[in-house]
Amino acid sequence: MSSLTIRPATAVAGTIAVPPDKSITHRAFLLGALSGGPVVVDAPLDSEDTRATLAAVRALGAGVEGDIASGRVVVSGRGVRGLSSPPVIDCMNAGTLMRLLTGIIVGQPPGEVTVLDGDASLRGRPMARVTDPLSAMGAAVIPADGGRPPLAVRPGLPLHGMVHRLPVASAQVKSCLLLAGLNAQGDTWVHEPVPSRDHTERMLRAAGVDVMERDGMVGVQGPVPGLRLPDLRVPGDFSSAAFWIVAGVLRGDPGVRVTGVNLNPGRTGLLRVLQRMGADVVVEPGPDVAGEPAGHVTARAGSILQATEVTADEVPSMVDELPLVGLLGALAAGTTVVSGAGEMRVKESDRIATVVELLTAVGVDAEERDDGFAVRGQMSIPGGEVRSHGDHRIAMLGALAGMASESGVTVQGMDAAAVSYPGFADHLRAIGAEAA
Ligand code: S3P
Repeated sequence: MSSLTIRPATAVAGTIAVPPDKSITHRAFLLGALSGGPVVVDAPLDSEDTRATLAAVRALGAGVEGDIASGRVVVSGRGVRGLSSPPVIDCMNAGTLMRLLTGIIVGQPPGEVTVLDGDASLRGRPMARVTDPLSAMGAAVIPADGGRPPLAVRPGLPLHGMVHRLPVASAQVKSCLLLAGLNAQGDTWVHEPVPSRDHTERMLRAAGVDVMERDGMVGVQGPVPGLRLPDLRVPGDFSSAAFWIVAGVLRGDPGVRVTGVNLNPGRTGLLRVLQRMGADVVVEPGPDVAGEPAGHVTARAGSILQATEVTADEVPSMVDELPLVGLLGALAAGTTVVSGAGEMRVKESDRIATVVELLTAVGVDAEERDDGFAVRGQMSIPGGEVRSHGDHRIAMLGALAGMASESGVTVQGMDAAAVSYPGFADHLRAIGAEAA
């Protein structure tokens, strides 16, 4: 486990081309495997999570050429019902991989059971949210005790479409069910209390699938004859960019600019929150990338931030950025409250607990609530030592807290950042923060 000490920075500045989007990279590899021909994926994210997806795609029998580190991978799909079922697939830390893969495997031709497993963090994450609705469609998917991984998935049972009403918005669950729906008889519809990110729907449409919309639901009519994903270039990841946007808001002088970032409105809730906190953030929309809105964002410090409340309806569009709201709240006037965010508890760590632990460890007055947290704004963040708990976003949050602190922060377990952002520490130094 590596540690990194980040010194306080009075001003940071620079331009960062953030790594490619993790959600879109997972989907490009997985839909590539279902595609009826080769798909060139340009600029995929090279991270531990997406390497796990590429290995999974290979294990399912799809062709993979090129090296993810070289920035170009060609996935030669075996068709929507043409994948084989290996005995075991290690999803490592990637919840998105495990959930989407389950929806894909149940629709494949009869074969051996595939066991989907992962690391200790993934083994603690709830899977009944996909195994229950898939079972209702006719699939055989058996989780371990408590509805957690490993999952035993049997391909080849007949699936029937149905309407799924998700109790909690989740792009991973929605995507899993739509992917199963591609090989089910009849319509598969998914209703969410608040719409989640729609990368899967956009990519399925680009691949020629008729993704239907009705009464606030999305659906597919199965079995689809096939799909053909066009070559694509993965845009920058907003969730990675969010760290530099917040760094700019807290210390950006003359400013921090992130370029080529995905700006799907289902991902950019943080921008709307920053706007009402009074932050100086300028968005320059550019041409679409991979059928997704994209552009550049510049953030500067200077304005006095006002505390805010983030409620359930905003959570899906910023579910991975909520930890950053805690840090912003620490330096805003008033008390910032996040509620309706119980989902934070079932991410790579229990992020309500780990965010509050981290803020408290650096001297911030933060309080844990069942479905969120409250942070009292103060003039400054003293600093201290924090633990990542193996969670990439908590590690990076600690680094940002250090940059904005009075005496610096040491992050234990900084290596976790490699799950989504292997070059994070280099980029931190590139904007002028001192970290060693
Ligand atoms: C993701 C969806 C979100 C998010 C995760 C990636 C995706 O999870 O937290 O990091 O790629 O679909 P949920 O769908 O469980 O909210």
